Amino acid sequence: MTQMNTRVLLARRPGAHLVAADFEVDSQPIGPINEGQFLIKNTYLSMDAGFRQWMNAGSDDNYLASMPLGEPVQSIIMGEVVESRHSDYPVGSVVVGRTAWEEYSVADGSDLMSIIEPDPELALHEYLCSLGPSGTTAYFGLMDIGQPKAGDVFVINAAAGGIGAIAGQIAKAEGCVTVGIAGGATKCNWLRDTVGYDRVIDYKSTVPLAEQLQAVVPEGADIVYDNVGGAMLGTLLGNLAENARVILCGAVSQYERLDGHEGVDNMWELITKRARAEGFMFSDYVDRYPEAIDYITAMLKAKSLVSPVNMFHGIETAGQAFIDMLEGKNLGKCLVKL
Ligand SMILES: NC(=O)c1ccc[n+]([C@@H]2O[C@H](COP(=O)([O-])OP(=O)(O)OC[C@H]3O[C@@H](n4cnc5c(N)ncnc54)[C@H](OP(=O)(O)O)[C@@H]3O)[C@@H](O)[C@H]2O)c1
Repeated sequence: MTQMNTRVLLARRPGAHLVAADFEVDSQPIGPINEGQFLIKNTYLSMDAGFRQWMNAGSDDNYLASMPLGEPVQSIIMGEVVESRHSDYPVGSVVVGRTAWEEYSVADGSDLMSIIEPDPELALHEYLCSLGPSGTTAYFGLMDIGQPKAGDVFVINAAAGGIGAIAGQIAKAEGCVTVGIAGGATKCNWLRDTVGYDRVIDYKSTVPLAEQLQAVVPEGADIVYDNVGGAMLGTLLGNLAENARVILCGAVSQYERLDGHEGVDNMWELITKRARAEGFMFSDYVDRYPEAIDYITAMLKAKSLVSPVNMFHGIETAGQAFIDMLEGKNLGKCLVKL
C-alpha cells in the first residue's frame, strides 16, 4: 500500500491577521527517495514566529524566499530517518532541520539539517526548544552581542515566548538583573513566579510602555534583547543606559504589516548613549552550537532552567498552533507533536 503524507499547505497569502483559512490540509503519496536523499518521519514541528514574515508575498530577502502557495508551510522540524540513500544520514538517525509542516519530509542534508545525539537524561523535544533553535538564538544573541556582565540590567520583549523564556534565564545565570516584557498580567505573573524574571512589564496594560519603563527600569537598560521591533523597539531605545548593547533578534510586531516594516524612533539615543545595536541570525553560529548546547544542558541537568512548552498534538493542529503563538497564547515554546 502506498504510504500517504499528510501536509499543511499555505493556501493563500494571509491578510492583516493570519487565520485558519490561510492553511489547507492535504494528503499525498510520499515522493521517491532519490540518490543523495533520505526520508524523515517527523516527530515534532517547531512553531517559530519568524516564519510568518516569509508567508507574505514579495518577502524574499537574503535569508529566505517568500513561501510558495500550495506548498507545505516551511518549518524547523525534528524527526527520524526511516529510509536513506545518503551515507551521512543512515536509517535511525535523529535529525533537526528546516523542511515543512508534513508527516514525512524528503531531505538531502541541506537547509540546516543536522544529526543530533539526544542525551537520554533529557526530553527529546528539548532539541527543538532550549537545545534547539530557540536556545541557540537566545544564547548567541545574548552572549555575543549582549556581552552580559554581572549587574547589567537586561530587558527583553516577547519574554514569555520560546526565545524569551530561555534568554532571560541565561541572562540571570550570567548575573544580570532581568526585566521581561510580555502581554497581559497573567503572563507577567508567570514570568516572575515560574521563569524567575526579577521585574516584569505588561505592555498591554493601560499605562504606556515608556512610563512603565521609567518606573521599572529607572537606571536604564544595559542590554536590550529585541524580538518585537517597530514602535516597541523605539520605546526601548528611549530608555538605554550608557554603552548599552541592543540585540536585534526579531520584529514580530512587523510580520503582519502588508505595507512593509515601520520606522524606529529614538535612533539618536544610540549616539548619545554610546550604544550599539546589532542584528544576527542563529544559523550564523552552526559551528558553535555545541558551546550553547553544553551550557544549556548543564543548566537543565542542574534544574536551574525552566523550559516551558506549549504542546499541540497532530499535524492538523499546526495552523492553529502557529496562530495562537503569534497571538501570544503560548507560555514558552510552541511545538506540535506528530
Ligand atoms: N535572529 C534569529 O536567528 C531568530 C531565530 C528565531 C526567532 N527569531 C525571532 O525571535 C522572536 C521570537 O520568536 P519565537 O519563535 O520564540 O516566538 P515566541 O516568542 O514564542 O512567540 C511570539 C510572541 O511574540 C509576542 N508578540 C506577538 N505580536 C506582538 C506585538 N505586536 N507586540 C509585542 N509582542 C508581540 C507574543 O507574546 P506577548 O503575549 O508577549 O505579546 C508572542 O507569544 C521573533 O521575532 C522571531 O522572528 C529570530
